[in-house]
Amino acid sequence: MQQNTLWYGADYNPEQWLDRPDILEQDIELMRKAHVNLVSLGIFSWTCLEPREGEFHMDWLAEAIDRLYAAGVCVDLATPSAARPAWLAQKYPQVRRVNADRVRQLYGERENHCYTSPVYREKVRRIDQELARRFGRHPAVVLWHISNEFNGECHCELCQQAFRDWLRARYGSLEAINRAWNTRFWSHEYTDFSQIESPAPHGERAMCGLLLDWKRFVSHQTVDFMKWERDSVREIVPEAKVCVNLMDRFDGFDHFEMAREIDVASWDSYPFWHRPGDTIEKTAISCAMMHDLMYSLKDRPFLMMENTPSFVNWHGVCKSKKPGVNLMTGLQAVAHGADGVLYFQWRQSRGACEKFHGAVVGHDGREDHRVFREAAQLGDVLRRIGRVAGARKKKQAAIVFDYDNLWALDRSMGPRNDGHGLWEEVERHYAALARLGVGADFLPPDGDPHGYALVIVPMLYLMREDLAGRLRAFVQGGGTLVVTMWSGVVDEHDLCYLGDAPHGLTDVLGVRRTEIVPMYDGETLRCVAAGGFPIAEAKAEALCEIAAPEGATPLMVYDEDYMKGAPAVARHAFGAGQAYYLAARFDEGFYLPFYRGLCKGRLAPAWPEPLPEGVLAVRRGAYVFLQNLSDAPVQLSQAALTPLETAIFEDDGSGAYKRLL
Ligand code: GLA
Ligand code: ZN
Repeated sequence: MQQNTLWYGADYNPEQWLDRPDILEQDIELMRKAHVNLVSLGIFSWTCLEPREGEFHMDWLAEAIDRLYAAGVCVDLATPSAARPAWLAQKYPQVRRVNADRVRQLYGERENHCYTSPVYREKVRRIDQELARRFGRHPAVVLWHISNEFNGECHCELCQQAFRDWLRARYGSLEAINRAWNTRFWSHEYTDFSQIESPAPHGERAMCGLLLDWKRFVSHQTVDFMKWERDSVREIVPEAKVCVNLMDRFDGFDHFEMAREIDVASWDSYPFWHRPGDTIEKTAISCAMMHDLMYSLKDRPFLMMENTPSFVNWHGVCKSKKPGVNLMTGLQAVAHGADGVLYFQWRQSRGACEKFHGAVVGHDGREDHRVFREAAQLGDVLRRIGRVAGARKKKQAAIVFDYDNLWALDRSMGPRNDGHGLWEEVERHYAALARLGVGADFLPPDGDPHGYALVIVPMLYLMREDLAGRLRAFVQGGGTLVVTMWSGVVDEHDLCYLGDAPHGLTDVLGVRRTEIVPMYDGETLRCVAAGGFPIAEAKAEALCEIAAPEGATPLMVYDEDYMKGAPAVARHAFGAGQAYYLAARFDEGFYLPFYRGLCKGRLAPAWPEPLPEGVLAVRRGAYVFLQNLSDAPVQLSQAALTPLETAIFEDDGSGAYKRLL
């Protein structure tokens, strides 16, 4: 977005302090000291901007923006649609959401408007355009923050009608819908569009195709609302750049679909630091996985739009980040492709439910506080390494991720209803690559595997026909493919494929699934190496497939129960490439040696020398970030790192690494 500058800042809520000009002044002074250069402004300001219908008060915001700009702080200007004024909800009940149980919500909370309501859309358009007219060309405004954390769904009559219209456009006829949803089951055939209703706890829960299409519709409607806002702003300021802030593992809409419509992806990162039993490294890796998903959404740098400098107020136990963790997490985000690090929030609220949420400036208003000092330190470091901004990541490995698949798995009954653990499955593969210093992208189902050396397909239960074709071509052309259990089961309507499985890939993998064996939590199956495979033993869990080898070489086999001797891990040469089949989820210890073997000679690690446990290396363009996430100091050939310390090197292309930090 801007050369040589990494953004640094926070959500800023001056509207909560309009009666305290001294505090507004102090904010500017402290922002300078913390090296802040970007704030998200106005996210929840609607009542201050339009206290009564059609009456706009924007001078306070103009003053805030001018004050910030004079201090070198740019603005990510929000549209205020996430939280509406009471007058609006009272006068126009249709803007309030109807829950799945068909009860309309009362006024309260936030992020709970109907995405379809023409009245809400009109009111939002009006305020968005007032903002765009007044501030859209202000030099401080470098980005638009459309609404906040879009989430949830509405089941009102307007949304039901929109759902039916969406279905009609997608399928053309009721007949096609009946076919796609297999509605002869339980005599569910529809004879009129008006009979179709959204899922409900006291209504439809059994038709998987309908449930899946409802999720797709909600995704579509959410993105459509965002586009409505984006286009309202762009009608006034055509060059406006927009972003939305996404959430960790949130399944409410297809992130790839949303990302196509925005300029910058961003997300709000709130990991559970310091949970007993979890190492810093483990928590950091699971956070890194989301960074890499965010980068992949647009295949370019993103923003960490929110994170806490200290603690949140909504975890079971709201631990503060220990000394050094904030610096480490900020730099980790940059290592994985963030061009900015922002907090929720700049200053702690005095009242309401977020009054005990951490902030750069606390209730004591002091700068000699550990949290402020550490925030200022990160600001200083980001300023010094600004040249990293814009650097792109090289394609190495890709993990196929499809929101349709996640939704379908969530709604499918059997073979294991105690959690399918898709994210956990994905994370086991991802974590091994992270520990090897191999970069991983997330590939949408319509994405192109070309250019990657390794493609992983974890638990792709719903597999589109065209994707299977692209994966086949990828292996044929020399790629390495890993496909796990419970892949290629259903088509895009959640209709089971008939015939051999994994559908479309049996000849690529050289195996054919014959049974799927779900395991209770804690239950495992011992697996042992076959024919000199370097992993002597592993434990299979969660979902274990039994497959008949049809050309593949078993590398590990089950060693217990009635599946004894069946392949647990198998390899098959296909065309110029290799396909690996993982018949089960394995214990975490399996994945690192498995991928070490696979990557060897194919994928260069971010850092040339072997790294001690707990030290992670990430490459971003010419920059290599080394982070010591262990609790002991480590000595590398070119750097000594204390616990939580980060070193950044620049590779000038000659193989020499110049240290930047
Ligand atoms: C979300 C919201 C913020 C704030 C934080 C608290 O990310 O976007 O407005 O509520 O959570 O952690
Ligand atoms: Zn609605």
